[in-house]
Amino acid sequence: MTATPTPAIPDPAQLRVVAEDVARQAGTPLTRVFRGEISIGYKTDLHDPVTVHDKRTEAVIRDHLLARVPASVIVGEEAGRTGDGPVNWFVDPIDGTANFAAGLAFWCVSIGAVVDGRIVAGAVFDPVADTMFSADTDGAWLNGEPLECPVARDESRAALITGYPVQRDFRLEGRDAALAGLGDLVSAFSTLRRPGSAALSLCHVAAGWVDAAAGFGVNAWDVTAAILILERAGGSYTPLTLGLRPDGTPAHHCPAYVAKGRGADFPTLDRVAAGIDARRRAVAATPAL
Ligand code: IPD
Ligand code: CA
Ligand code: CA
Repeated sequence: MTATPTPAIPDPAQLRVVAEDVARQAGTPLTRVFRGEISIGYKTDLHDPVTVHDKRTEAVIRDHLLARVPASVIVGEEAGRTGDGPVNWFVDPIDGTANFAAGLAFWCVSIGAVVDGRIVAGAVFDPVADTMFSADTDGAWLNGEPLECPVARDESRAALITGYPVQRDFRLEGRDAALAGLGDLVSAFSTLRRPGSAALSLCHVAAGWVDAAAGFGVNAWDVTAAILILERAGGSYTPLTLGLRPDGTPAHHCPAYVAKGRGADFPTLDRVAAGIDARRRAVAATPAL
């Protein structure tokens, strides 16, 4: 009996091209429904919307990825885990669903590939702006041109994107502590924005369109592609476990991050993030009654 040959794993550049193609194929049709009648459902609570387009788009992405790279596992926000093989794809069909559903043009498709525990390729596509961020192990690209993160400005002149705090942070850390942290960031940075979409925020740091981003409730499908794009562009990504994962967990599996442009020195952001991490570790270590 002859053994079934093991399919070759595409190299990182090939996986990047697959991620780009599929993100574009799946994302472009969303521009036709964006700002139309979109019926909205909710997952865990009213802060967690979902639309039929999230589910449909993820199914399209899954089918295209499996057709191009059959030896794949797809981990998607909407349908969970499917497939089998050495290439693990982390897929967010629409990152920034609340914006998509409201008609606010800050959302994207995010597809990241992990092989042997290492992020090797990814694409983040903004269909409204027709902007494609991508990376493999050799570099990062913006619309096919090499992407180099510029040197970040001083904190007092810099722009920060963060969605922190949300109601969950009030619940877990206390409203006063969370708002005090936000207040420190508002005072320290020249500009603070909370546009939503972790993936697109990280890509904005990679492009130097903002100097930093921070998030404290993300999943692997939000950040896998964008971590590689940011790091290969020359920015930095510091994961935080919040006590929810063992120290040393791979960055894309950590629930929080601080992301900075090249060479950034942002002491207030570091201090506030460390305070959030410490408060959340204390919560995680407290047994539930
Ligand atoms: C959310 C966005 C948001 C981040 C949340 C994510 P979704 O993803 O990326 O910016 O703060 O943690 O869950 O629900 O729009 O795909
Ligand atoms: Ca998301
Ligand atoms: Ca999503």
